[in-house]
Amino acid sequence: MSEGIVTASYVGATILFILALGGLSNQETARRGNLFGMIGMSVALMATMSAVTANWEILIVALLIGASIGLILAKRVQMTEMPELVAMLHSLVGLAAVLVGFANFMDPERLQHFTGIELTIHDVETYLGILIGAITLSGSIIAFGKLSGKIGGNPMLLPARHWLNLGLLIASVWYCIEFVNQSASGGGLTPLLIMTGIALLFGIHMVMAIGGADMPVVVSMLNSYSGWAASATGFMLSNDLLIVTGALVGSSGAILSYIMCRAMNRKFISVIAGGFGTTSGAGSAASVEEQGEVIALQAPEVAGLLLESKEIMIIPGYGMAVAQAQHIVNEITKTLRGKKINVRFGIHPVAGRMPGHMNVLLAEAKVPYDIVFEMDEINDDFPDIDVSIIIGANDIVNPSAQTDPESPIAGMPVMECWKGKTTIVLKRGMATGYAGVQNPLFFKENTRMLFGDARSSLDEVFKNL
Ligand code: TAP
Repeated sequence: MSEGIVTASYVGATILFILALGGLSNQETARRGNLFGMIGMSVALMATMSAVTANWEILIVALLIGASIGLILAKRVQMTEMPELVAMLHSLVGLAAVLVGFANFMDPERLQHFTGIELTIHDVETYLGILIGAITLSGSIIAFGKLSGKIGGNPMLLPARHWLNLGLLIASVWYCIEFVNQSASGGGLTPLLIMTGIALLFGIHMVMAIGGADMPVVVSMLNSYSGWAASATGFMLSNDLLIVTGALVGSSGAILSYIMCRAMNRKFISVIAGGFGTTSGAGSAASVEEQGEVIALQAPEVAGLLLESKEIMIIPGYGMAVAQAQHIVNEITKTLRGKKINVRFGIHPVAGRMPGHMNVLLAEAKVPYDIVFEMDEINDDFPDIDVSIIIGANDIVNPSAQTDPESPIAGMPVMECWKGKTTIVLKRGMATGYAGVQNPLFFKENTRMLFGDARSSLDEVFKNL
């Protein structure tokens, strides 16, 4: 393919990626956005492949292996495992940036292509690509561990951790200067290797220091890092498409991190510096017995309460994803709306385990978009709500975020369902949520518990409706 066609394809792919991001900003256009993204990626892959002139067999074999692994993973992964998969995919972007960086550095023709200031710029690009890639790689692996529960959610807080981070940063800058100085004479591998080790340690330390409740910010931040790593790789390889695509991912991830921080009432720098979610005060640590008694209902009683209502708010959380209860939720919604009861959904920005988790599930079950609302849109409406149904949610409806300054989730805006007439909580037992804190909502006078797997419980409620 001529260079002109390759460039035109790159421009086409870039436009498709921008359209994809635009589409993903709204539930109704998200499917189309995904389609644009897939077409854009196919165009980009074909254009990149056509620009390759040698070693075709290696490329084809690598593509086949990569595509097969991707296909098998995508087919096998459960909806509840998506956040872990995303974290794992971020780590692969980081790994690719590190490998491409080293391959670029070891290219025997490097010193013939670049001299003087051009070599310095190229070396800094390589160094940054490997640095960001290595942080993304190790940080994402730890995030994977935390999201899958293989690593505990509590933040690991080393003494003088901020000094440690500062030390690692200064060492990275110093080794960058060493690397650039040695590179012109054919050296530089040692500082590059040492920096890679430092960056890997930094990535581990950064994510280990972040408390469970702040993981949403980490997920979007690593998303952003993976974009910048790809962008740095684009500079290394002088590939415009990679630069632009990386920048799109990097900046959209950064915006998402900002939105997540705002949703959780956190300062980005404080989250990254770690330490949130460290304290667990008396209120949050109080045992079930200390909190009081819970009132349990059976499915027929819940159905009765729903039928008597005029205004119902459904608040889904991670447990709905675990139970795969979204389809029965939609059936119940249709039945209640058929009886002229106003049913709405309230979605907390960090419900579930990934941004938009609940929206994806509800869209899959074909819940109409116009009855699904963001927390900000409906949080003032609770005093007029007859029944709020909490389906496998916990931290996002925890009043101690407002009342207990010692709580790990203190300050996080929550859905104020307790202000309604009755709250019905569906969960299997009295286990805590992701942040590991007990929830005083369950012990409130106007709260009723429907214990059991959310799908089985809702099946029963549906039968009784
Ligand atoms: P959680 O606070 O994690 O609570 C989920 C609840 O669902 C649990 O208490 C569990 O109680 C219940 N549950 C689990 N399986 C169930 C089933 N099959 N049937 C019925 N109930 C079930 O979830 P949330 O309220 O959605 O809050 C999200 C939390 O995850 C926040 O702390 C947030 O910071 C964190 N987080 C979010 C993200 C993103 S981006 N959304 C990423 C990482 C972390 P039982 O075991 O008693 O049933």
